Amino acid sequence: MPSKPGLIEVVGTEPAFHLRADGVSYLFRVTRHGHLEHVHFGPALGHLEAAADYEPLVVKQASGHSGVTYTESDPGYCLDYVPQEVSGLGKGDYRLPSVEVRLPDGGTTTDLRYVGHTLHEGVVPCQDGLPTAIAEPGQAATLEVRLADGDLELTLFYTVFAAANTVTRRTVLTNNGAGPVAIRRLMSQQVDLPDRGFDLVTFDGAWAAETHRHVRAVGRGIYINSSATGFSSNRHNPGVLLARRGAGEDHGEVYGFNLVYSGNHYTAVELSHREQVRVQSGINPVGFDWTLGSGERFETPEAVLSYSSDGFNGLSANLHAFVGDHIVRGEWADRPRPVLLNSWEAVSFDINERNLIAMARQGKRLGVELFVLDDGWFGDRNDDRAGLGDWDVNPKKLPDGLGGLASKVRDLGLDFGLWVEPEMVNPDSKLYREHPDWAIQLPGREPSLGRHQLVLDLTRPEIRDHIVAELSTVLDSAPISYVKWDSNRTFSDLYSTACPAGELPHRYVLGLYDVLRRVFGPRPQILLESCASGGNRFDLGMLCFSPQVWASDCTDPIERLAIQLGLSYLYPPSTIGAHVTASPSEQTLRATPLSTRFNVAAIGVLGYELDPRSLTPSE
Ligand code: DGJ
Repeated sequence: MPSKPGLIEVVGTEPAFHLRADGVSYLFRVTRHGHLEHVHFGPALGHLEAAADYEPLVVKQASGHSGVTYTESDPGYCLDYVPQEVSGLGKGDYRLPSVEVRLPDGGTTTDLRYVGHTLHEGVVPCQDGLPTAIAEPGQAATLEVRLADGDLELTLFYTVFAAANTVTRRTVLTNNGAGPVAIRRLMSQQVDLPDRGFDLVTFDGAWAAETHRHVRAVGRGIYINSSATGFSSNRHNPGVLLARRGAGEDHGEVYGFNLVYSGNHYTAVELSHREQVRVQSGINPVGFDWTLGSGERFETPEAVLSYSSDGFNGLSANLHAFVGDHIVRGEWADRPRPVLLNSWEAVSFDINERNLIAMARQGKRLGVELFVLDDGWFGDRNDDRAGLGDWDVNPKKLPDGLGGLASKVRDLGLDFGLWVEPEMVNPDSKLYREHPDWAIQLPGREPSLGRHQLVLDLTRPEIRDHIVAELSTVLDSAPISYVKWDSNRTFSDLYSTACPAGELPHRYVLGLYDVLRRVFGPRPQILLESCASGGNRFDLGMLCFSPQVWASDCTDPIERLAIQLGLSYLYPPSTIGAHVTASPSEQTLRATPLSTRFNVAAIGVLGYELDPRSLTPSE
């Protein structure tokens, strides 16, 4: 097998694959039976010439075992003991499978084995509409490994990002048979690490209390960090860490895992009976049920894996470099972000042009660079019970329209930004009255509302077309240089005329990415800040479109310390929207000095969300 020097080495004839980041190696090999055996993920190994160079790292199997022997011709070979890059059901590995399907004959057993591989320069973008990491020439290389079992073809993509000490992985399943295959579970990545005494660190919370750090020892059994809300969620961020017990800020081994995805995510950590820690991540199998027709392929989101022996800081430095260089993109990726003044906490729905201009004028005197008009400017929107879906400006509030307001704001020397919530509809809206079937709800059943609203069915192309057209009209009606894209409820009553309920959540996320691409692709000058009731969708998928995310609806600086600290493990400060608001805090009623509120907000992307006219002269 020819070996290509550089970021990926193909070693020996078995072969083995060595992904070489600047300070990290990821190594796996093809076993004598064609399975992919994980060998090493950790410190850089240097050049490997032959199998003998990595042999000491291979987990040794005793000749006797109590498990199911893969083949009688090789009594020592038992899949339950082999650390694996991908695993199916039914051949003696009883840990969590990374692939679970129902075959046309009703069977569930799969035995995916190596067929071939290809090396690529740079990244290989996803074909199915999911955003994936990007790279400049020379920064990354990709290994494509093909496996098969009968009519099933499984392709694994591994991309190594040298300077970020990060590897990404994703999986493509193709059905080459005549009958349909049901996918029940298809992980983006699986890695079996030797147990070194790990703590699992997750970032969990709730509305207005996101990403609090929680640590627990990894013991025997399975721990799952997931979301089933349709969003990546404020309950459990998709990013998790596995830290060797005793690791500190600057010392010790820490692994990081994340997913470039904004929907139902899943990470499982399983400490098995043979001291191996299996870590899997991908789409949450709960509620997922995908039919792969003859000739069809399914591509998973991209999973992110990183390692540092320099503790939590070292791992965060890797992830920050990865997000900054390979996830956030576009005109705003590396530009200083404007200091903004947002209207929401100051005036809520009580909008009139005179007040807005007065706030903007005072903001300008204080150094604000961008004035953002939040919720309440459109339709019949005087509270959160009506108007979502009707994206025409309310002439009673803004008699000169968005164009009039924006040009007055710009005359003050500020840029103008706008809030929208395009994925949603209030039943009390013109849009809903015209198209009740456009909302996700079960026919003939009363739907459950969240914040008095329903989710539009973004799996349907005609609904996406409508949103793109409406937003294009709004964004081209005024000089808008910033958009805050909000989304304020989670999924319920799953039903679509376009697909089965088991496919809806993933197809919805693909639809969302399609809309974002079509709205903002032609308008690269607009800085997008994504938001979902604060941090209900703070994830790498949204960061491929929006360089910054509104971290939380809680702006009390003391609560914010916990939220922003949690986020900082996984995401750089340039992605974390943080505002100075009035005291006492609307959310916690805690009073804090302006300096505390400023110091905490200034750690992220600084903004203000108060009426600057209410500040005292000394403030
Ligand atoms: C939720 C957001 O997180 C807030 O910042 C604000 O935009 C409101 N929605 C407006 O309805």
